[in-house]
Amino acid sequence: MAFSSSSYPEELTFPEGFGWGASTAAYQVEGGWDADGKGPNVWDTFTHQGGDRVFRNQTADVACGSYTLWEEDLKCIKQLGLTHYRFSLSWSRLLPDGTTGFINQKGNCFLKIEGIDYYNKMINDLLANGVIPVVVLYHFDLPQHLEDQGGWKTEAIVEVFDAYAQFCFGTFGDRVKLWITINEPNTLALCAYELGKFAPGVPNPGTGAYQAAHNIIRAHAKAWHSYDSLFRKKQNGQVSIALFSPWIEPANPTSLADQKAAKRVMALALDLFAKPIFIDGDYPTVLKSWVAAISKKQGYPSSRLPEFTEEEKRMIKGSADFFAVQYYTTRLAKHHENSEEELKSLLKDIGTDLLPDPSWPCSQASSWIYVVPWGIRKLLKYIKDTYNNPVIYITENGFPQGDPAPLDDTQRWEYFRQTIQELYKAIHLDKVNLQLYCVWSLLDNFEWIEGFSSRFGLYHIDFENPTLPRVPYKSAMEYAKIIQNNGIKGPL
Ligand code: BGC
Repeated sequence: MAFSSSSYPEELTFPEGFGWGASTAAYQVEGGWDADGKGPNVWDTFTHQGGDRVFRNQTADVACGSYTLWEEDLKCIKQLGLTHYRFSLSWSRLLPDGTTGFINQKGNCFLKIEGIDYYNKMINDLLANGVIPVVVLYHFDLPQHLEDQGGWKTEAIVEVFDAYAQFCFGTFGDRVKLWITINEPNTLALCAYELGKFAPGVPNPGTGAYQAAHNIIRAHAKAWHSYDSLFRKKQNGQVSIALFSPWIEPANPTSLADQKAAKRVMALALDLFAKPIFIDGDYPTVLKSWVAAISKKQGYPSSRLPEFTEEEKRMIKGSADFFAVQYYTTRLAKHHENSEEELKSLLKDIGTDLLPDPSWPCSQASSWIYVVPWGIRKLLKYIKDTYNNPVIYITENGFPQGDPAPLDDTQRWEYFRQTIQELYKAIHLDKVNLQLYCVWSLLDNFEWIEGFSSRFGLYHIDFENPTLPRVPYKSAMEYAKIIQNNGIKGPL
């Protein structure tokens, strides 16, 4: 189908079977931080240490209370009519010290049963209500015990993650058919291991993100192969990794330097993970040469970006069954020359300033989010063209409000509506193979260092009220209509 803006259809009906979902993550919603034998994770430790690193030193000890209020979450899911619910497993709720060895030593210990039962109930309830679970194995909440041994900076984590993944596939894979190994490895590598703003909170400028990224990619690929060789035949599911990506435009579209800068940012933000996994097992060439050259100038014996062995490249290449992407915002890239004093920073490695366009509305609640719905269409087209037209799932997209957040969030819904229009164009005009869209998030929740001040939920939660009531925003009602109509009906 082709249409100009004047012949734009009044009703935007999505392809039959298109998935409409919403997402959450264990640490952000569950609470019950030490309930029933759950082990501590890095965010428990980080928030309990205080130090003003999180808004008002808030913690997610209770958060949305989903550990005990799952039935309330289910009501929201049913009210919306979601086809998919994307949530994550708390690794240390299932395996308190992160290792399967620990659990196995205790046999059928009480602790293990508690964690498993909680997720079994969620999965069974979802399926009983016709909702497809999309399960993330790990969303930023590494068991503290594993962090104490070096976390994602050490190669040893690869085996441990694989064992955890196999444990999950074996325990839940008879019912779970869509798996995501790791949520936003790029955000994790940058915010946690490079900048130290996220737990565990230790900055490692210039090296931390690359080391973490390297081990995350290896761990993901190993887990994918375990699924492929041990579980796929019987369980018939699919496994991928969820990559965060902004869309990047050159600041000056006619400047070759800015065009190249935009490519470098995409290489760092998305291709650093996507190229090895979806194309050839290796990092983007442009990034390898830039980081190698800068590392040399800095006197490092080798590039700060590690290298995969040939065997690892073979393992990593093709280790995903669909492309899961999470989009929030767009930036303009402006080339700048690196200067000596700016060395040892991953963001400086790419010699680029990232700017918003002054016309883009900025979210008051999360200052990094400039609202640019058309960016999602461009990103989807980029993925189609760069990664051989894969099946794409958007596993997160959203816009926060500040606190207090009005239940009538008309302006926010307008962003969602524009975004959904852009998805429609991506499918119908650009022929992108998009099959699922998930809103971040089902509930207002603990927004990492912004605590409860940034509200992404389709449902409002009053965190001061001990019963943590879930109340729909206008956006929830509107999203329910979209889902019911499989698209937008009525005047655009
Ligand atoms: C993360 C979520 C987070 C959301 C909004 C994503 O980067 O996966 O955990 O809450 O963005 O910041």
